[in-house]
Amino acid sequence: MASGDNVQTGYSCDDWERHYDTDDLRWDLGEVAPPFERLWEERNISPCKAIIPGCGRGHEAVFLAERGFQITAVDYTRGAVGLLDDALVTKNLPGEVLHLNFFELDAKYNNSFDLMLEHTFFCAINPDMRQEYVTTAGRILKSGALLIGLFYETGEKDGPPFNTGKRDIEECFSEKFEIEILNKTIHSAERRQGKEWLAILKRK
Ligand SMILES: C[S@@+](CC[C@H](N)C(=O)[O-])C[C@H]1O[C@@H](n2cnc3c(N)ncnc32)[C@H](O)[C@@H]1O
Repeated sequence: MASGDNVQTGYSCDDWERHYDTDDLRWDLGEVAPPFERLWEERNISPCKAIIPGCGRGHEAVFLAERGFQITAVDYTRGAVGLLDDALVTKNLPGEVLHLNFFELDAKYNNSFDLMLEHTFFCAINPDMRQEYVTTAGRILKSGALLIGLFYETGEKDGPPFNTGKRDIEECFSEKFEIEILNKTIHSAERRQGKEWLAILKRK
């Protein structure tokens, strides 16, 4: 974690990269987040153009690619991008993996995605960047597109992961998104039980 007195300083890109360099992926579930798997069993979410920000090893990206979604995954570390590139090659799956800062996505991606799948990226960024997150999501998603996310209520003051409560989600997203579903999920991985908000947000 970057040094300083402000506990909400967060990680720099180098901090994240160090985790990949030392194979310390303590946030990684080793599989797609179970609530997503459940949601896909319960709802008919048709394959479409999808983006996965802060994709990490990319379990969500692989999950979508295996189901016929046209994926763009974004991470600003070499480590994450390398791992996902390898996974896609091994599984012979198509997909675009971008090595860049999510907030600097090129304007050619404006208004181009039908789905964004959020998993422990919103809680990974400095809370000061949350409005920028909403602005970027709003810019790249088509009107009517879905942002499906798991938001992590850690109950902790510092981070990452930074605490995300129901009101944080409502305050951040209400202007640009309709909140279709916002419930604590009971299907979280064991270590996150009772701490994850499953949100389905629709771009206005
Ligand atoms: C906690 S990890 C989550 C990874 C993955 N989503 C998962 O749930 O396993 C956060 C990831 O976001 C990436 N990240 C953080 N800030 C970023 C930014 N501004 N642009 C792109 N990637 C970023 C980090 O490199 C890291 O891989």
